[in-house]
Amino acid sequence: MQIHILTAFPNLFYGPLDESIIKRARDRDIVHFHIHDIREFSRDKHHTVDDYGYGGGPGMILKPEPIIRCAEHMFEEYSIKEPRVFFLTPQGEQYTQKKAIELAQLDTLILLCGHYKGVDERAREYLKTEDISIGDYVLSGGELPAMVIIDSVVRLLPGAISDIESAEGDSFHSGLLDHPHYTRPEEYKGMRVPDVLLSGHHAKIEEWRKQQSLERTRQRRKDLLT
Ligand SMILES: C[S@@+](CC[C@H](N)C(=O)[O-])C[C@H]1O[C@@H](n2cnc3c(N)ncnc32)[C@H](O)[C@@H]1O
Repeated sequence: MQIHILTAFPNLFYGPLDESIIKRARDRDIVHFHIHDIREFSRDKHHTVDDYGYGGGPGMILKPEPIIRCAEHMFEEYSIKEPRVFFLTPQGEQYTQKKAIELAQLDTLILLCGHYKGVDERAREYLKTEDISIGDYVLSGGELPAMVIIDSVVRLLPGAISDIESAEGDSFHSGLLDHPHYTRPEEYKGMRVPDVLLSGHHAKIEEWRKQQSLERTRQRRKDLLT
């Protein structure tokens, strides 16, 4: 998968993309990142990418020209014929595991990060963005939401994690919350690992896990059961 990120703050991505599963996926050529700094597409000498909003009021707006120039340059350089640009915004469709599974099927994932009060509406319209929100709260920029999307998508790419079943058993994947997990020691501060997990009886373990998943979902997220 090729992941393109359009941002005015590229440095925010260094670090998170260089560790753990994402780093391994990069090292294995499962995913390639292209971080595009929209400031490079500003034509004034200070590389300004924001300006005051028409109509007054506080807060700066990301200008349309550097974003659109950056996007068009990227489409051409990487021969992207039918680009789908996903814009991170609290006004977008709520992000879910279902969406992560859908995005993980793409060859090219393009993420546009807003900042300040947001982006000039014409950039959204021109790029025909598909808008995604990671939740009903407001962050300072689209960079952290982009990282949330990247992490949740990359771990689903074949080969990114050693045992794909471990992603498939995670919460939401099958519609339920995950069951509880235990590791060594068998007993800690008087708390024992459930006997069934030590029994070696695979069918009973599966049954126990399924029951626990259902029970957890019923207790914590009844909405998922409907
Ligand atoms: C301070 S926010 C702007 C919020 C905007 N004025 C509004 O109320 O819809 C700056 C940028 O952060 C990103 N952002 C903030 N919260 C987000 C969320 N919950 N999901 C996705 N992106 C978010 C968006 O890219 C947004 O353009």
